[in-house]
Amino acid sequence: AGRAKIALIGAGAIGSTLAHLTGLKELGDVVLFDVVPDMPKGKALDLMQSGSVEGFDSHMEGANDYSQIKDADVVIVTAGVPRKPGMSRDDLLAINAKIIRQVADGIKTYAPNAFVICITNPLDAMVQLLQQHSGLPANKVVGMAGVLDSARFRYFIAEKLKVSVEDVQALVMGGHGDTMVALPRYSTVSGINLPDMVKMGWLTQEELDALVKRTAVGGGEIVNYLKTGSAFYAPASSAISMAEAYLKDKRRLLPCAAYCTGEYGVQNTYVGVPVVIGKNGVEKIVELQLTAEEKAAFAKSVAAVKELVAATPKQANL
Ligand code: APR
Repeated sequence: AGRAKIALIGAGAIGSTLAHLTGLKELGDVVLFDVVPDMPKGKALDLMQSGSVEGFDSHMEGANDYSQIKDADVVIVTAGVPRKPGMSRDDLLAINAKIIRQVADGIKTYAPNAFVICITNPLDAMVQLLQQHSGLPANKVVGMAGVLDSARFRYFIAEKLKVSVEDVQALVMGGHGDTMVALPRYSTVSGINLPDMVKMGWLTQEELDALVKRTAVGGGEIVNYLKTGSAFYAPASSAISMAEAYLKDKRRLLPCAAYCTGEYGVQNTYVGVPVVIGKNGVEKIVELQLTAEEKAAFAKSVAAVKELVAATPKQANL
């Protein structure tokens, strides 16, 4: 089959990190596309030269023309503008919608069989637009949010309980915004769920509630420190785990923004749910039995996502 071709649309902070991880993990060859002239060529050369030292030989190519992403197996989209302090992800809607339409056209023309992972914010609205505008099948277009939000929750749990993050699993569902739903019942330390950890006295309910709250604003916490942009290491790692699950047909169960057609009572809308990712893209949406309280929180998050989708400018030049 030869090497996988991985096209990265957007060669900024996340795009470059995606390329580096692709090399380090030897997932395939990379095309780094950006609208900024020449910049992705410089990054591609720098990245390949790091391969001399690290011992990977991925070919990396900078691109300013969509024809260069031709027949990519995976496309990861970070094209767009990131947040600055004081901005919500939703503030990026109009400007990034315009960019996502261009990206969708490029993918439709040159890589219609790719597995497409969207990272651009506001995530749930942008992945929905990307799928609709490109016309690619919904099982092949997915949004990266849940893996990142769960990674943040996992880190906060590990730090609080003073255990290795390696043994912490967590599940965060819903939209990629302040309404996201972290689920302590489905979050564990080596199989022990968080409500049990509270009963065992490892942390108080109040402390657990604070970790849930911190998770929901975890991206903003980083924006406030960085000032000029948003997080990029953890978002890149998260998307690479999804790309790897597809390329290696791993059937990993990961929370992703997926197109729901009735699951959880959600009709024809992208929102964060647990899915199985394998060689066919999103192979299954996993429906959990939520409590009344969890259902209410999820419904609130879905409503926020729908509002954002409705607010997405309908025409290309708006
Ligand atoms: N087509 C392709 N690339 C574009 C376009 C376009 N129409 N418009 C802008 N870009 C490029 C920019 O030139 C820049 O190199 O997208 C890149 C974005 O990189 P950064 O500004 O460094 O942003 P990054 O931190 O990578 O985040 C990208 O992901 O997490 C989200 O909210 C974040 O929406 C933002 C996106």
